[in-house]
Amino acid sequence: MRDLDVLLQEHRTFPPPAGFRERARVADPALLARAAEDPEGFWAGEAAALQWDAPWDTVLRWTPPHARWFEGGRLNAAVNCVDRHLDGPRRNKAALIWEGEPGDRRTLTYWDLYREVNVAASMLRHLGVRRGDRVAIYMPLVPEAVVAMLACARIGAVHTVVFGGFSPESLRDRINDCGCTVLITADGGYRRGAVVPLKRNADAALAECPTVKHVLVVRRVGGTGPGEAHAQMVEGRDHWWHELAAQVPAECAPESMEAEDLLFILYTSGTTGKPKGIVHTTGGYLTGAAATMKLVFDLREEDVYWCTADIGWITGHSYLVYGPLANGATCLLYEGAPDWPAPDRFWALCARHGVTIFYTAPTAIRAFMKWGDHHVAKHDLSRLRLLGSVGEPINPEAWMWYHQVVGRARCPIVDTWWQTETGAIMITPLPGVTTTKPGSATHPFPGVRAALLDSAGAEVPVGGGLLAITHPWPSMLRTIWGDDARYVSTYFSKWPGRPDLYFPGDGAKKDEDGYLWILGRVDDVLNVAGHRIGTMEVESALVDHPAVAEAAVVGRTHELKGQAIAAFVTLRAGQHPSGTLRDDLREHVARKIGALARPDDVLFSADLPKTRSGKIMRRLLRDIAEGRALGDTTTLADPAVVASLKDQYEAQEG
Ligand code: WTA
Repeated sequence: MRDLDVLLQEHRTFPPPAGFRERARVADPALLARAAEDPEGFWAGEAAALQWDAPWDTVLRWTPPHARWFEGGRLNAAVNCVDRHLDGPRRNKAALIWEGEPGDRRTLTYWDLYREVNVAASMLRHLGVRRGDRVAIYMPLVPEAVVAMLACARIGAVHTVVFGGFSPESLRDRINDCGCTVLITADGGYRRGAVVPLKRNADAALAECPTVKHVLVVRRVGGTGPGEAHAQMVEGRDHWWHELAAQVPAECAPESMEAEDLLFILYTSGTTGKPKGIVHTTGGYLTGAAATMKLVFDLREEDVYWCTADIGWITGHSYLVYGPLANGATCLLYEGAPDWPAPDRFWALCARHGVTIFYTAPTAIRAFMKWGDHHVAKHDLSRLRLLGSVGEPINPEAWMWYHQVVGRARCPIVDTWWQTETGAIMITPLPGVTTTKPGSATHPFPGVRAALLDSAGAEVPVGGGLLAITHPWPSMLRTIWGDDARYVSTYFSKWPGRPDLYFPGDGAKKDEDGYLWILGRVDDVLNVAGHRIGTMEVESALVDHPAVAEAAVVGRTHELKGQAIAAFVTLRAGQHPSGTLRDDLREHVARKIGALARPDDVLFSADLPKTRSGKIMRRLLRDIAEGRALGDTTTLADPAVVASLKDQYEAQEG
C-alpha cells in the first residue's frame, strides 16, 4: 500500500509578474543549483552577511542527529538586529511601527530600539539575570515585547516566549520546565476591546513557580481606572518596567556569544503529552532567519513589512523580530484582533501604513473570505507587492482569493512551509524566479535538501509520500530542552538506521514538474477503502465550492471502507445550510477528486475548533465523529466550539 494517494489536480500556474523578476533579489535560478551542490558554502556565505566578533573554524559538524554550525564563531544576536544598523542611514529609519488595538500608535527608529534594548538589558542584569539563565516573556504585542526578547539576547539570557493567550497552567508548566528566574509581562493587553489580564494570569502561574525571583511588568492598560486592578504588585518580587528603567544604566555592553549558545527555547505542543521545549542556538538560527527573510520576501530597504503572527509563535520570532531586524527592515506590529472594531482592520492598517509585504496564515485568509470581499475592496492596497502564507496548507481556492482580492492579481504569493523546529522557512517559492501553483509550497529553499520517501525509506519520484529533510540546515532545532532522547525519537527515528533523516511529520506529494504540495500531518491522514488520502485534498475540494469558506475532514470508523469521511464545513457570508447544499457538496468533492473521497457526513458549523495559533484540531473532530468523549481541549482557542459541534453532530445522527 502506498503511504499517501494523490487526488487533487491543480494546473494553474503563475510566473513572477512582469517587472518583478527584473528587480528581484534572486532573479537567477543558478543560485539554487549552486546551493544544491554545496549547501555549506551557501550557508557560510549567508552567515558572512552577519556581524561576527570572531570568525568560525568549522561551518558544520554533523554527528547525526546532532549538528553544530559555525563552531568557534562568536556573535550577539541583538547587536546584529540593532547596533549594527546605527552607523549609517538606517539609524533614523523606523524599525517598528506599532499600532495598539484601541488605535494608539508608536514608532521606534533603530536608534530608539537601541536605547530601549540597552535599558531593558540593564534591568535584567540588575535583577540578577546572567548569561545562560532563562527568562520567560508573557506579553501582549507591544514594542516592549520585542525589546524584551532582544534584551535577553543582548546579555546572553535564553528567552522563552509564552503566547499571551495561554492560560496560567500553560505558563506555569513552561516556566517550570526550563527553570526561568525572571518573568517579563504586562498588566494586560487588548483583544476584541477587552483587557486580557496578563498579570493576574501570571500571578496565578507564579504561585507554583519556585524558580522565578523577579517579575518585570510593562504598564499597558493601567494608570487610571479598571486597569489598575489587573496588577497587584508583590513587594520585592515585582517591578514596574518604567520605574526600574529610570534607575539602571542607559547602556549595557553585549555578551559575545558562541555560535552554538542557546538563543531561545520555544514550546510547541506535541500530538500527545507535554509540550516540547524546542531549542534554538545563536549563529545558525540567525543565519537561517536572516537569509530567508531577505530572499523569500525579496526584502528592499524601503519596504514596510507586516507579519501578522504573534511573538508567541515561531513565525513571530523569525519573521517579526530576528529575520527582519537583522536585515534592517521596517516592521509593522499590531496588537489586536483582525475584526476589531470591524472586519476590515487589517486592510485599514495596510493602507494607513503603506504595507508592501504582507505575511499571514491560511486560517486568517479563510476568515477574510468568509467575511466578504467588500471589507478588502474598500481600502487602497496598491502598495502591496508581495504576499506570504504560513502555518497550514493553503487550499487552492483560498490561494486564488488571496491572489485576486488582496493582491489584485499583481503580487506573487510565497507559500512558505516550515516549523517551530526548523526555525526558518524550508520549502517556498523565490518570488523572482519561481512559477507558483496555487496550493504548492513549490521547492526547497537554497541550501535545504528535502525528499519524499515511503515508509521504507525509498524515494518517491512522483506521487504521495512522507516529507523528509535529508541534510542538516543552520536553523534546525538542536534538541528538546531536558529531553534529548525525545528529540531523537520524535524527529530522527522514522527510518531505522538513518539518524541523518529528519522527519517533520507531514505528508506531501511531488507532481510531474517536481513541485512539492504539503498535504497535512500524517497523523491526520484518512484511510478509505485502502486508500490513504491527505486531509488537505478533500478540504480543498470543499473550499473550492463557492458556498464554502473553510472545511475540515476526518475519518471515522466504517465497517466496510475502514474509514468514512466526515466533513465539517463553515459557509461564506450570505450562504445558508440546507439538505440540498449538503448533497451538492458531496457531489462537488466526488466530481473534483473522485467518488472515493465523497464525504459520508457533512456538518455545517459556524466555526471550527482551532489551536491558539489557528491550526484546525482534527483530533477533536475525530472524537466527535466517532462519538467518543472529547479529549484534551485545553489548547483550543475557543473550547465552546467543540461542545456545540458535538451536540449538533449527535442531533444529526439521531
Ligand atoms: C504546517 C509554523 C502546509 C505543517 C511555521 C507543519 C504548513 C506545521 C505550512 C508547523 C505550509 C506550516 N503549507 N503546511 N506553508 N506551514 N505548515 O510549528 O504541518 O506552528 O509541520 O510552525 O504547520 O507548525 P508550527
